[in-house]
Amino acid sequence: MQQIVRTQAPGRINIIGEHTDYNDGFVLPAAIDLTITQTLKVNGSDYTVNLISKNFGASFQFDLRDFKKVPSGWQNYLMGVVSEVQKKRKKLTGFDCEFGGNIPIGGGVSSSSALQVSFLYALNKAFDLNFSKIEMAKITQQADHNFIGMMGGIMDQFSILHGKKNQVMLLDCRSLEYQYFPLELGSYQILLLNTNVSHSLADSEYNTRRAECESGVEILQKSGLGISKLRDVSPKQIVAAKDILPANVYDRCTHVVQENQRTLEATKALNNGNIKRLGELMYVSHASLTDLYKVSCSELDFLVDQSKTQDYVLGSRMMGGGFGGCTISIVEKSRVNEFIDFSAKAYQEKFGKDLTPLQVKIGEGAKVLS
Ligand code: GLA
Repeated sequence: MQQIVRTQAPGRINIIGEHTDYNDGFVLPAAIDLTITQTLKVNGSDYTVNLISKNFGASFQFDLRDFKKVPSGWQNYLMGVVSEVQKKRKKLTGFDCEFGGNIPIGGGVSSSSALQVSFLYALNKAFDLNFSKIEMAKITQQADHNFIGMMGGIMDQFSILHGKKNQVMLLDCRSLEYQYFPLELGSYQILLLNTNVSHSLADSEYNTRRAECESGVEILQKSGLGISKLRDVSPKQIVAAKDILPANVYDRCTHVVQENQRTLEATKALNNGNIKRLGELMYVSHASLTDLYKVSCSELDFLVDQSKTQDYVLGSRMMGGGFGGCTISIVEKSRVNEFIDFSAKAYQEKFGKDLTPLQVKIGEGAKVLS
């Protein structure tokens, strides 16, 4: 047992491949240089846990033998992790844990997964739990499913754990095999614009989308297709199934099937230095997330539409689960400030709100600091 452990975990971006992960598909994420840091101290008590969030200026205490979900709040993410660790029959004793960082909360860059991963990383080290990175990705995902009730995929946790400096990863969410690629964009760079909106329907709509995909799979299976997830369906097969799927399910499935293809094509484009094509695919991805998957919102659509009027932007799209958060764009380096000013002014005029630009770099995955 180690008495004091400090850990750090980053947020993540996703270049392309949205709402594909829980359909066993492909994603192209990377860890970023915005992070959360935790200090965990074993406190000598048998069952008392004290949590302190520096960002919220708040603390929370619970008993390891008896705790339950609070109506809402950051503490649920951590109690969810403890609950999953206990299910694995691993022994924890009382500890104090203090954490904070610079990942925008509700910005679609996965601050909650970074919180959970850095926390589990600290527990792993302090209590000699011996979980591998893949086990930690699955445990934090299960915490979301079972404690929070958010049926998320594996992309966030996996990329936060496996991030590598200057590299994006093509992750096969079925086999969990992954390959790193350098993010070489020549005279262009990635830029995030945070809409600073986070619509409350996000979690429930997310679960609905997932259920719609699953119902599509069920109908396709009954029609005789030997598939287990939408990952197995080809673009031709989905078109051929139009008449047997309810319209909304057809749209959701079409998005997933095509987004998988786009992610593979985008990876190829990136490898061939064809940044223009990568940008085009990002625009198509956004249109599909808006029209077929219906997880965008007017603020995100507005920013993407604005970017299309600027020829120094090659591509832009909403990133993450949707209903708010950030857009991710590929912008000519020398004109980034111009783009920020242009977008911020238009956004303020349209919505009476400020956006927040985030010039992130690709950073390292979760680690123990000391
Ligand atoms: C959220 C989820 C991920 C993934 C994205 C959409 O970030 O946590 O698992 O499904 O939405 O691609």
